[in-house]
Amino acid sequence: MSGPAENHGVVTTIDSLSNFADKSVTVRGWVYNKRSSGKIQFVLVRDGSGVVQCVVVKNTVGPELFSLCDLLTQESSLIVAGRVHKDDRAPGGYEMQVEDMKVVNVAKEYPITPKEHGVEFLMDHRHLWLRSSHQHAILRIRHQIIKAVREFFDDRSFTLVDSPILTPASVEGTSTLFDTDYFDLGKAYLTQSGQLYAEAAAMAFGKVYCFGPTFRAEKSKTRRHLTEFWMVEPEVAWADLNDDMDLAEEFIEYVVRSVLKKNEPELKLLERDVAKLQPVKRPFPRLHYDEAVDLLKKNGVDFQYGNDLGGADETIISRQYDRPVMVHHYPAACKAFYMKRDPERPDLTLSVDVLASEGYGEIIGGSQREDDYDTLVKRLEENNLPRPPFEWYLDLRRYGSVPHSGFGLGIERTVAWICGLEHVRETIPFARMIYRNTP
Ligand code: 4AD
Ligand code: MG
Repeated sequence: MSGPAENHGVVTTIDSLSNFADKSVTVRGWVYNKRSSGKIQFVLVRDGSGVVQCVVVKNTVGPELFSLCDLLTQESSLIVAGRVHKDDRAPGGYEMQVEDMKVVNVAKEYPITPKEHGVEFLMDHRHLWLRSSHQHAILRIRHQIIKAVREFFDDRSFTLVDSPILTPASVEGTSTLFDTDYFDLGKAYLTQSGQLYAEAAAMAFGKVYCFGPTFRAEKSKTRRHLTEFWMVEPEVAWADLNDDMDLAEEFIEYVVRSVLKKNEPELKLLERDVAKLQPVKRPFPRLHYDEAVDLLKKNGVDFQYGNDLGGADETIISRQYDRPVMVHHYPAACKAFYMKRDPERPDLTLSVDVLASEGYGEIIGGSQREDDYDTLVKRLEENNLPRPPFEWYLDLRRYGSVPHSGFGLGIERTVAWICGLEHVRETIPFARMIYRNTP
């Protein structure tokens, strides 16, 4: 759609206004706010790239155009043409002296106003809430995190090999599977993790990653759990647990540095204390499960050796350090069937969880994989997993099995940590949780 008048210069976006100082341009957007002082109206317009103050002076534009401003309710859409002026007091450093304006749609009374709304109300209006500056900043940071994730692996010769979403079997245990009828083939399940397929791909390509939505029928109603979330999962042939931890810390450092570099305005808007993110550099502390248990006991937690760490335990551990901490060698009893055991301590697995700092807890789960055919067959039996859907997975141990490792990073928990948010529900455009599948 063109501007109100073709002679008002190019159509541009608000983030590019600095290229047009003292020139006339056209921008298209939505009314963010409006105030008036008699013969001058100030209309704050947002277009997704930024916000600009548009100054409408009655004596310059004439009474007819000036009165158009009275129509402008919050979130009305419009096309404005005007001269760009540098103004250090203005939000983006520039404002527009309006020369022409076209109202495209006068918005009905907008449900989200600057007053406080409850979270449930805002989540019910998520399709509109996305326009608010906080939500906008969070999703811009999410975008940058995803970009950094891809850059990191692409620059290190990993090949993206995506895993299927509809699968015949479970990866992370059967208790959190969503199922669906699949024609004449019985049940299919929404994948909990692309890992098993990434392992197949690693045997074909060496270093791979998959990156997609994953699903858990989580009954837990916590600030860390979604039923649909995005996970990136690298898998590397010939890598052992130590290599896996080296990769995880380099990866997290890269992602955090990239956000610190690219998202200063968004972090500022969210009032994120970036001093807490600055120390996120290699090496991260590495804590054996036994040491983690001792640390919990020292902090007065009545912890049962052999259990998985709960959210509260992770919070206590991660608060001890100024950067993420890697807890490794979890007991086999609380981890998945595919994890290789420690040959010296077969009750423990060659596994690692990376706990984000400031009490955020687990953002990565990973391990070295069991690569021996007979042992893996035994593990399937011990876990009461049916053999037929895993035959292809056993093939990877029949034909040229090698040591290999990988991990999965949850995007939403990473966004929550980097943005300093209480809850993961705001870190994904449209959250799916136990009590929510709309809008
Ligand atoms: O620890 P998890 O279950 O590990 C796996 O799925 C492995 N198969 C990954 C691998 O080795 N390739 O999940 C990995 C990460 C967690 O650390 C967390 O960040 C995220 O996925 N995650 C969730 N995020 C939001 N809501 C949930 N319900 C999540 N469950 C796991
Ligand atoms: Mg885990």
